[in-house]
Amino acid sequence: MSELHLWLRHEARTTERRTPVVPADARRLIESGVRLTVEESPQRIFPIEEYEAAGCGRAATGSWVTAPPESVILGLKELPDNEPATLTHRHIFFGHAYKQQPGAAALLRRFAAGGGALLDLEYLVDDQGRRLAAFGFWAGYLGAALAVLQHRGRLVAPLRPTTKEELDATLEPVAGDEDFTALVIGALGRSGRGAAAALDTAGVRATHWDLAETRALDRPALLGHDVMVNCVLATTPVPPFLREADLDAPARRLRTLCDVTCDVGSPLNVLPVYDRTTDWTEPVRRLGKEPPLDLIAIDNLPSLLPRESSTDFSAALVPQLLDFGPAGPWGRCLDRFHEACRELGIADERELPHD
Ligand SMILES: NC(=O)c1ccc[n+]([C@@H]2O[C@H](COP(=O)([O-])OP(=O)(O)OC[C@H]3O[C@@H](n4cnc5c(N)ncnc54)[C@H](O)[C@@H]3O)[C@@H](O)[C@H]2O)c1
Repeated sequence: MSELHLWLRHEARTTERRTPVVPADARRLIESGVRLTVEESPQRIFPIEEYEAAGCGRAATGSWVTAPPESVILGLKELPDNEPATLTHRHIFFGHAYKQQPGAAALLRRFAAGGGALLDLEYLVDDQGRRLAAFGFWAGYLGAALAVLQHRGRLVAPLRPTTKEELDATLEPVAGDEDFTALVIGALGRSGRGAAAALDTAGVRATHWDLAETRALDRPALLGHDVMVNCVLATTPVPPFLREADLDAPARRLRTLCDVTCDVGSPLNVLPVYDRTTDWTEPVRRLGKEPPLDLIAIDNLPSLLPRESSTDFSAALVPQLLDFGPAGPWGRCLDRFHEACRELGIADERELPHD
């Protein structure tokens, strides 16, 4: 295999401070013979100087467009819309393009037109289909933390990126805080474990449910908790955990609902009781019900802890980058890209141009 040249791009979304590779891991890549160019990015949580000190090259913001053709462009979230019209490189990022999301077909067409390829991080899996690098733990941690703060009347909007240390300080119970119960569903997964950890830090008693406990769903037990944090990864339709009618149940204790999963609009949605997500500016929406029910449904939770979430993600991704090649997980990513193109009737069938 020829030398791998990775090009870490600036993120187009202005609130995105995370990075898929942190400076300490950049050094590991370089010491292993990978070439790494890093674009200047004023918002990235790690300054460019730390990457330079690790031996990375430095490039201007957005200059990936003219990067050498064999380089692999590395990012996390979306590329700038429509520009450039054709994508000629191999790109590693979360494309959100294989489930008919808005803009998905347009993105895949840009790749097909330029002969490039999307190696989607969501589909970087081992041979059992398990995700190799994910942000779930911190999504769950944040989701449960925000739910606790809201329930205790201490959530301050707009939300801003913070550190775990600062966040944990706000989670400590203070005199006068009433005890309450919380339910985490999807508790055995990455976000579920994160949610459980945050509730533990906050001193909240939590019930943990996963597949076994929801098979015959006990809705009265669900509604008997004060706070619920939904962390499931739904892959097949199941009866919803909450229906509109459940919110009118007189015995409902549930007052604060955090939906980490955020499958709103999807046929797999287990919480079809709201129709749009919330965000950093207005993190909480009161669903028009009596007694009140507050909803938090933010789809970019880990960005609120950019340093911790980047560090964990990078630790998981770097071993895979050191093994970059046409087989294994990256081969599966490329196969999935071709399959998505075929599903759309896009003809490009080129293989990885530089193995
Ligand atoms: N809001 C955000 O910012 C954000 C960030 C990252 C991930 N997510 C989402 O969070 C969800 C969970 O991600 P993850 O990485 O923790 O996934 P995961 O695969 O690690 O865990 C999911 C868990 O859900 C359980 N589960 C699935 N169906 C269930 C059911 N019907 N009843 C009970 N448990 C069930 C699984 O057994 C598993 O333990 C995903 O939908 C993901 O897209 C959201």
